[in-house]
Amino acid sequence: MELLTTIHQMQARAGELERQGRRIGLVPTMGYLHAGHASLLRQLRPDCDSLWVSLFVNPAQFGPREDLARYPRDLEHDLALCRAEGVDGVLAPTPEEVYLPDYAAWVTPGPVAERYCGAARPGHFRGVLSIVLRLFHWTRCRVAAFGAKDAQQLWLIRRMARDLDLELEIREGATVREPDGLALSSRNVYLSAAERVSALALQRALHEGCRLLEAGAAPDTALDFMRRVLVAEPGVELDYLHVADWATLDSLAGTPGRPEWAAGLVAPPAPGQELVVLTAARVGATRLIDNMRPRWGEPRPV
Ligand code: PAF
Repeated sequence: MELLTTIHQMQARAGELERQGRRIGLVPTMGYLHAGHASLLRQLRPDCDSLWVSLFVNPAQFGPREDLARYPRDLEHDLALCRAEGVDGVLAPTPEEVYLPDYAAWVTPGPVAERYCGAARPGHFRGVLSIVLRLFHWTRCRVAAFGAKDAQQLWLIRRMARDLDLELEIREGATVREPDGLALSSRNVYLSAAERVSALALQRALHEGCRLLEAGAAPDTALDFMRRVLVAEPGVELDYLHVADWATLDSLAGTPGRPEWAAGLVAPPAPGQELVVLTAARVGATRLIDNMRPRWGEPRPV
């Protein structure tokens, strides 16, 4: 497995691979890899001839009071996981090279980036889309995979690929969960034993909310039920909770309140319409997100 640490090395290698007619696949990550990343790699392996992982904790997507400095890092562990998954190459550039002191070019992600996580983390998706576009460019990947757990990120990356006519496929990997339902996240290491138990309320609330929506309940009814589950859980401080249309990410019901951008969007969902229930909450000092995608009025087969 190759390990490249500069953008120039990556561009030269990607050029060679392309000249050899290889189809490059990429899983962009911030490292501290877990089973969720491994499942993205397994999904991508059959669809490319050269499978790459990027490891880069991107400063541009962290706010000034966020956890950039203490974000977990473990290069040896990440390389071992990549080797075990049959990865061909890893790109791990330095922040100094990626962001020159006078770096100034950014992707503007549009209004959907200002909702949900974007409302709590101004500039976050600008940082995400800008680095993702550059990673696509450096690696010349023709297929890239992202986890469904970061639903808004996935949606915005797909929209960027469409709007900027990027010649690549964006694949989605299902959220990988612990046996008790907690969505895997590199940030789970911050949770104490008690907080980890409280964190389970997120998936419990979403699961119940999805059941209600699948049974045809109104978004407001499902939202109210989920909100009660979350506020009743000690140690969980709700940031947002929304039932949205997956095609547009417009909110159909939400807390805190239906924001201005969603005014008038109160039409009931159509039978079979794909929805997404999105939440973010602080559990102790850790901000966790989770989401699920029910189809309205369409119970899942058991
Ligand atoms: O999902 C992540 O780990 C990051 O947001 C990404 C896509 C690697 C961009 O830094």
